[in-house]
Amino acid sequence: MSKPLIQLQEISKSFGENHVLKKLDLTINVGESVALIGGSGTGKSVALKIILGLYYPDSGNVLINGERSKPPFEGFLSQIGMLFQGGALFDSLPVWKNVAFKLLRDRKKYSVGEARKIAEEKLERVGLGSEVADLYPAELSGGMQKRAGLARAIADSPKILFFDEPTTGLDPIRTANISALIREIVDENSATALTVSHDMTCVKQIADKVHFLKGGYIAWSGTETEFQNISEGTIYHFVKGLPDTTEVES
Ligand SMILES: Nc1ncnc2c1ncn2[C@@H]1O[C@H](COP(=O)(O)OP(=O)(O)O)[C@@H](O)[C@H]1O
Ligand SMILES: [Mg+2]
Repeated sequence: MSKPLIQLQEISKSFGENHVLKKLDLTINVGESVALIGGSGTGKSVALKIILGLYYPDSGNVLINGERSKPPFEGFLSQIGMLFQGGALFDSLPVWKNVAFKLLRDRKKYSVGEARKIAEEKLERVGLGSEVADLYPAELSGGMQKRAGLARAIADSPKILFFDEPTTGLDPIRTANISALIREIVDENSATALTVSHDMTCVKQIADKVHFLKGGYIAWSGTETEFQNISEGTIYHFVKGLPDTTEVES
């Protein structure tokens, strides 16, 4: 078996007295679609930022393709497509330039015309017509902004995709639609994917494996099928949105 694409080994990260991650272990194998779930403020985005090299851990190792890495992980980052929480489009750029952002930075490889053509193809792929290409992000609805953000994430057909709360702020129908679209795109690209979310509908549609972050480490891991069949414990309470009677605060 090939080495895991990403491994977090005993990662700890605190902000002052706020001990967010406590010896977190997480493995993502090539070709897997993994979800990292957990309540708000449990450190999901922090873990993702550590993988991206945006935050340094206080201790522990980040291994990429089995190699211990120190940020910035430049070679790795160039292979990644990322959908940020909220879409994170650049307000001052028209939609097509947002989508083509990475392509326009590589003018040796893509002319402006080619970048625009690819941007329009990707917009179409996510269900947005080329008529949105010249609009500005503020002219799009929230759901359309997510789609544009998704088109940007896949602009250069990356093999590694990261999604941070891809369905936040969407109604249930749009949540189901965007989750299905993400799954299709991950499969089409044969990509390795990490989705960070507290939305169960999204996780069930996107992930092959689910890791539940609580108290700074992975409190439960399982396949998507095991996740669907959970019937007890902390994660059951979390999935069902029930108060957690097993809670023991440290
Ligand atoms: N740059 C930062 N400075 C201080 N605290 C931070 C910073 N980034 C995240 N945190 C804290 O870390 C905790 C986890 O945040 P985050 O990973 O964003 O949660 P979530 O699981 O909702 O994505 C929160 O308490 C947050 O306030
Ligand atoms: Mg977050």
